[in-house]
Amino acid sequence: MIQKYVYGKPFPTDAVTTEVPLGKGTPVYGNIETEKGFCFTYILKDEDIVYGLGETNRGLNKRGYCYVSDCSDDPEHTEDKVSLYGAHNFLVVAGTVSFGLFFDYPSTLTFDIGYTRIDTLQVSCEEADLNLFVIDGDSPYDIVKQFRKIIGKSYIPPKFAFGFGQSRWGYKTKGDFRKVADGHRQNKVPLDMIYMDIDYMQDYKDFTVNQENFPDFSDFVQEMKAQNIRLIPIIDAGVKVEDGYPIYEEGVKNNYFCQREDGSNFVAAVWPGDTHFPDVLNKEARTWFGDQYRFLTEQGIEGFWNDMNEPAIFYSQEGMAEFREFIKDFLEEKAVTATDILITKLKDLARGHDDYRRFYHKIDGKKIRHDKVHNLFGYNMTRAAGEAFERIDPNKRFLMFSRSSYIGMHRYGGIWTGDNMSWWSHILLNLKMMPSLNMCGFLYVGADLGGFGSNTTRELLLRWLALGIFTPLMRNHSAMGTREQECYQFENIEDFRHVIGVRYRLVPYLYSEYMKAALNDDLYFKPLAFVYPKDSMAAQVEDQMIIGNEIMIAPVYTQNARGRYVYLPEEMQFVKFLPDGTISVEILEKGHHYVEIALNEIPLFIRSEKCIPVAEAAECVDDLDTAHMAMLGYDHAEYVLYDDDGMSKEYEKSENYRTLRKE
Ligand code: NOJ
Repeated sequence: MIQKYVYGKPFPTDAVTTEVPLGKGTPVYGNIETEKGFCFTYILKDEDIVYGLGETNRGLNKRGYCYVSDCSDDPEHTEDKVSLYGAHNFLVVAGTVSFGLFFDYPSTLTFDIGYTRIDTLQVSCEEADLNLFVIDGDSPYDIVKQFRKIIGKSYIPPKFAFGFGQSRWGYKTKGDFRKVADGHRQNKVPLDMIYMDIDYMQDYKDFTVNQENFPDFSDFVQEMKAQNIRLIPIIDAGVKVEDGYPIYEEGVKNNYFCQREDGSNFVAAVWPGDTHFPDVLNKEARTWFGDQYRFLTEQGIEGFWNDMNEPAIFYSQEGMAEFREFIKDFLEEKAVTATDILITKLKDLARGHDDYRRFYHKIDGKKIRHDKVHNLFGYNMTRAAGEAFERIDPNKRFLMFSRSSYIGMHRYGGIWTGDNMSWWSHILLNLKMMPSLNMCGFLYVGADLGGFGSNTTRELLLRWLALGIFTPLMRNHSAMGTREQECYQFENIEDFRHVIGVRYRLVPYLYSEYMKAALNDDLYFKPLAFVYPKDSMAAQVEDQMIIGNEIMIAPVYTQNARGRYVYLPEEMQFVKFLPDGTISVEILEKGHHYVEIALNEIPLFIRSEKCIPVAEAAECVDDLDTAHMAMLGYDHAEYVLYDDDGMSKEYEKSENYRTLRKE
């Protein structure tokens, strides 16, 4: 059962898509104060676990720290960070009494989950204008599924998006892209997508293509497609300020950009230099911005990634003027200022907090200051694209994922988890975040495999890919200036061919489980506790996950490890895809085990009485032969496979389901 409680005058975020009955009085759980802002307080019992919050730092159980929903472009995901790129305000308290809460509030919201006082959950924000949804259910899992029902169906990508993608910030010319295509095809490392980062554009202008490097862009798109490789360009939030650039001029003429209080267009410096932000919270401007994607879809492009849409600001003119003032005395040696204070000031310039109070959206004729609705920007940029795709080709699926997001955006695209580092701890962060994101509706998710910032190693990349095999978005991406980390940069490329090949062998299963999760408002990544609710040990496990309904994964995330400890809540088949193409199977009893996993082996565990289909490896998703698949798992078990054309939106046909049996 779900009830809605309305406080003050909530901003309509469109996160929830169904009518929810109004609760009477105050929610039965916790205490609410609205005198100074809004504050929800609940006293946690010792055994309570808190799930949810989507893209946040630290563990699957969010208890013991503080998290702030405040979409931020912060490339250092160290443990102390309280805000990342998304704002996903849904949590579940799981204990003897379990319930779910969704705080539908578009500005800064603080979740103190046993940080200030270990037994106290406190959720607070400055203004008491929000909708609070309170969910009762039979179990934490049931509560999540009920929540998913009220926020609308999750985004479904085309099937090719389950292939492997290669990306790097710095690919510029056709030669760079051909090198990536050849590096994979010649070495028979499977590949479906190459991502185009900002350098494909003309001077970082959205919806342009560098004329010198790509004079015949649509021919180049076709050249890649002929090799079954899709090019996936990036789109940034800021539109370059430049006379003669039609998008800039149209936006200015029609007042489609965010404006300062005095009505002038707000200027933010990002990659192209000065930019304006499209007012994607305004319906007309959103439609206009979305229609710009046509420039690329008409040239054969079938997928995009939306970036810098917190929106990221390097500095504003106002911020720079204040900074200049601040350092004047320091430069003239009139004041002694500690250099770390200077650095903090400089970083604050890009943090945008002051800037977010300097511009406005025009919504239904009313001006709303950006900071009041800050967390909705990335969501609405991606919604602009999603709504446009419906107009461009209503029965076609486009690949779309975004950096910044709010619940509601899960209907229009997936997300990638932004600028992680080539650190072992970030493999674990990647794994723990996945179910939390699923709970908030985001199913098409993944991290930059190998790590975006800093230098990767062959071992780190292989171990990370072994997790990436199971994330719907499987992409190797890295930052300019770091060690090149395409698979063909390392010795013994056959290991990479094998590891990525296993992804393709599993695509029929992974796609089927993704589709079932999307069509039934279910989870693709499940915490063990959701599947084995009576097993108190399972509730403690955060480094193993259930994928779909049949398998469990337990990735290796430590350097020089030859294997790892796993906990099995029931008997399972321990399966390893070995580098020679064979598969080893061992039955392991319920309980704790140490399992050996070499760097070039891919492990998974098949649950008791279950089975999964396995295809032969292919170099691209289109080449997968799903008519002839082997079955792995328990004898006489059955598996219902979902499959479709991978492109259209005809999901509900009965011929999309077929039952397979392990003899
Ligand atoms: C920031 C994004 O997070 C990263 O993935 C991208 O490579 C850079 N912007 C450059 O576009």
